[in-house]
Amino acid sequence: MNRSEPAKPAKPAKPEDPAGPEEVDRRELAPGYAVPRIISGGWQLSQGHRRTAIDPDAAVRQMRQLANAGLTTFDCGDIYAGVEALLGKLLEISPDVQVHTKFVPDQDALPGIDRKHVEGIIDRSLRRLGVERLDLVQFAWWDYEVPRYVETAVWLDEQRRAGKIRLLGATNFDVPHLAEIVAAGVPIVAHQVQYSLLDRRPERGPEHGPEQRMLGFCREHGIHLLAYGTLGGGFLSDRHLDRPDPVPPLANRSLVKYRLMIDEFGGWSRFQDLLGTLARIASRHGVSIANVATRWTLERAGVAAAIVGAFDAGHLDDNLRVFGFELAKEDLECLEPFADAGPPGDVYAAERVPDGRHAAIMKYNLNREASD
Ligand SMILES: NC(=O)c1ccc[n+]([C@@H]2O[C@H](COP(=O)([O-])OP(=O)(O)OC[C@H]3O[C@@H](n4cnc5c(N)ncnc54)[C@H](OP(=O)(O)O)[C@@H]3O)[C@@H](O)[C@H]2O)c1
Repeated sequence: MNRSEPAKPAKPAKPEDPAGPEEVDRRELAPGYAVPRIISGGWQLSQGHRRTAIDPDAAVRQMRQLANAGLTTFDCGDIYAGVEALLGKLLEISPDVQVHTKFVPDQDALPGIDRKHVEGIIDRSLRRLGVERLDLVQFAWWDYEVPRYVETAVWLDEQRRAGKIRLLGATNFDVPHLAEIVAAGVPIVAHQVQYSLLDRRPERGPEHGPEQRMLGFCREHGIHLLAYGTLGGGFLSDRHLDRPDPVPPLANRSLVKYRLMIDEFGGWSRFQDLLGTLARIASRHGVSIANVATRWTLERAGVAAAIVGAFDAGHLDDNLRVFGFELAKEDLECLEPFADAGPPGDVYAAERVPDGRHAAIMKYNLNREASD
């Protein structure tokens, strides 16, 4: 630099090149089992998620691209129609990828559920994926009024002990019900919950007192959080900055889900305030709004990974930039005014309100519909 020139303010180094596989941060969920801190979410590939059909060969090619870039773990579920089979095809060509599935017994099946039913669903996941052992099975239960979740979790654990499952997880439980399952001796290593700038319920839980917050409970019991909704289905991105509230019908089920969360957050105008703040933080780091939103979740204590929905590999390069920067104290201070927004109560409580707005968009009996 010419010494006579006035000094310019230092520009933040833009992480031009996305991280390669070696730069992808990983976290151990259990001894010898580590996952990338971005897990690729497969709900976006399920039949019925969006109006257009999926091209299975193209989907597998795109998932392989994610895996080759270091995003080697995929999330799916027994109820994500067609996705376990797609991931089975991926496993044929990339046998080292890790697949996390779910066990989500149908609401109608809960009163009569038995050991045989659990075994049947697990065997079907093994068959669809073409493997002898499932890496991680995350257990969900639609209705606490049907009090058979502990028994069912124990039957699931029998499947683990029989060698069909490596690790057990849970999804969408609140603290008291997860505590019952843990107290029964079921070794839960991960809990998949919605956790984002729009939804901070895992760190709240006013009705249970601070000592029972999900984050605290999980930390105490060595359970890692796997966060979904990190990008609010794509709403938390540059695409929606300074844009009007989209007019229904929205393009996919994820957007429908998170548009309701934006209402819980305070509505479209408050959401735009958040996006504006995120845009300023993003520009300080030379990254995207989505990167800041993902980074925020990854920096919460107790979060092992963010499950970011991946319809294809289109956002791959951008998402890898998450591993190239950290939020500064001043960034977090800018986000403080939004800390109290979002749905109240414990994890998934709003979604469990009978006949509530969130419940109205759910599909409770998908296993029956997808019984291949
Ligand atoms: N346990 C549960 O109850 C539950 C519930 C929901 C989801 N999940 C899991 O979590 C996964 C994540 O899904 P989600 O519905 O919560 O959605 P999300 O991860 O919050 O958002 C995913 C969407 O954001 C967009 N996106 C991704 N990266 C981006 C980037 N860098 N910049 C801009 N946009 C980007 C993509 O949409 P476009 O392709 O349209 O651009 C993508 O489909 C699911 O696939 C599923 O595995 C679990």
